[in-house]
Formats: sequence, C-alpha cells, structure tokens
Amino acid sequence: MAGEPRHFLDIADFDRAELQAILAASRAMKRTRAGAPRGQRDRNEPLKGRILAMIFERPSTRTRVSFEVAMRQLGGEVLMISATDMQLGRGETVADTARVLSRYVDAIMIRAAKHSNLTELAAAAGVPVINGLTDRSHPCQVMADVMTLEEHVGPLGDLTVAWVGDGNNVAASWIQAVARLGGRLRLGCPASLMPDPALLAWAKAERAQVTVGEDPEAAVAGAHCVITDAWVSMHDSDAASRHNILKPYQVNRRLMNMAGPGAKFMHCLPAHRGEEVTAEVIDGPNSLVFDEAENRLHAQKGILLHCLAADG
Ligand code: CP
Ligand code: NVA
Repeated sequence: MAGEPRHFLDIADFDRAELQAILAASRAMKRTRAGAPRGQRDRNEPLKGRILAMIFERPSTRTRVSFEVAMRQLGGEVLMISATDMQLGRGETVADTARVLSRYVDAIMIRAAKHSNLTELAAAAGVPVINGLTDRSHPCQVMADVMTLEEHVGPLGDLTVAWVGDGNNVAASWIQAVARLGGRLRLGCPASLMPDPALLAWAKAERAQVTVGEDPEAAVAGAHCVITDAWVSMHDSDAASRHNILKPYQVNRRLMNMAGPGAKFMHCLPAHRGEEVTAEVIDGPNSLVFDEAENRLHAQKGILLHCLAADG
C-alpha cells in the first residue's frame, strides 16, 4: 500500500477545495449515469476489482443500499457484515479487526455504535475507512445534503440554513460543513440537547457563521432551508424525556411559514410524521427528502472515488 490510506471520517478533516472536488465528482457521477444509454452506464468502472467491507453496529436502509449500489455501479463489490456476526461481538478488538480486514478488502465502511470505534478502526487500518454514521457525526449524509441544497437553491456560501431540534450527529456534520464550505447555520435546540460545546468552540475558532439558541422561530426566520431529524437517535436511551423536551421543536406549517418564502425542508430520514415533522411539511412541495436520499448514492460515489481511485 502506497502512503497513508485516504479515510473519510469527518468533514472537518478536509479543506474547502477537497470537499468541493468530492462534490464535483459526485455531480459528475450523477450526470454520467443519468445521461448514459442503458447498458453503457459507468462504462469505465473505475473501481473494478475493488471490494468494500461494510460493518454495521446499528441498522440502516439508505446507507447500506446506497453504498452497495454505488460500489456495484462503479464496478466494485461489497461485503456486508453485521457486527454481531463478527468476533468483534465477542470481544476481539477493533484494532485487530481493522488489521485483519485490511489484508482482505480495499476499503471499510463502518456504522459505529461509538465514534471511538470509528477512529480506532481508522488508526489501525491499512486501507481507507469511511464513516457511515456514529453517535457523533454523519458526514456522508451531509455531503449528500449539501449537494441537494445546492441543486435546488444555490451555492451553500450564499444560503442560511436552520437546524431545529436535537443538536445531534447530523447537526454536528452540518456545523463542520458550514465551517469548511461557508454559508450560515442557525441552530434552534433545547438547552439540554445543544451540540457538543467543544464542536461549537471549534466552529467559532474557524470563524464559521454558526449561531445557537433555544428558540426555533428565531432559528428559521429568513432561512432558505429548515432541517430537522428524529427526536430519538439510534444511540439514545431517554426516549420519553426527549419527546417532552422536543415537542416545541416540531417542524410544522406554522414554523415553515416563519422561514423565507419558498423555504425548503430537509430530513436525513427515517422520519416520524407527527413527531419532529408534520406530514404536510415532509410530504409537501418544498420537501427535498427523497432527493436527499437519492443523492446519498451520488455523493458516496464521490467519496469512494476520493478514497479508492487514487491509491493505484
Ligand atoms: N439517513 C440514513 O443514514 O439512513 P439509514 O439509517 O437508513 O442508513
Ligand atoms: N440522528 C439519527 C440519524 C439516522 C440516520 C440517528 O443517529 O439515529
């Protein structure tokens, strides 16, 4: 293996030019596929012969299927592994797992129960490791989100984005995205569910235009897009209290009306209609949620090419 593996762990690890290059590759892959005659799509198969192992410590629909389809369309193959079926589940270390898998496959994607499992895997792996969500971040999702918002509204640097609800893993990747790519992010979160103070301090030091407050109406005023996520994430155990705390943060028509005219709605899915968002908003004309889901496929092709195409 020549040089250090090109991991994709967090948006903050990249500079603006690198992220723009990944997004440009993602858009190119989307155009190529849309324009190519049937049977001739992705003809050059840049990842032919490459194998991606996917480890899931948590369930997934979009991440699992979009990575598998992306690899196949690029000519590669995938191995899907549930963590409970591995010796990892019986106490083999993450580092030994990384060393062993690196002898078999060309890259590893992990959906990790703890962020430290991702970083330990990456530290010991000899092949690129991709973050397919941890309790702390979800960078693949936010690359697809940025791609989607730019397709529908315009360059992120010109936009105001509102995050309403839990200051969770997806919110953390949005903070990193705005710090690196520009734009303004206003978070409206309950005091007990604010993003990590260390991440907010980092964003401030990076001079990112990120503001936080407890008022959802102040967060959405004049925003081009309103984003929310489930009240209870996969790693959360306090469902009942979260429902109480987050009830005033529901994205409904009244809140959307306080955003800019024509403001878009985004959500990484899975969604819970009647909880964090009403059906009329998520199923309404300004909702981008299924374009976001589709763009996971295209954005991850850009990420896979970044991680794999350059290593010979
Ligand atoms: N948005 C997202 O990552 O969905 P899955 O949990 O289905 O992968
Ligand atoms: N915040 C959610 C995102 C799911 C894709 C979770 O971590 O469960």
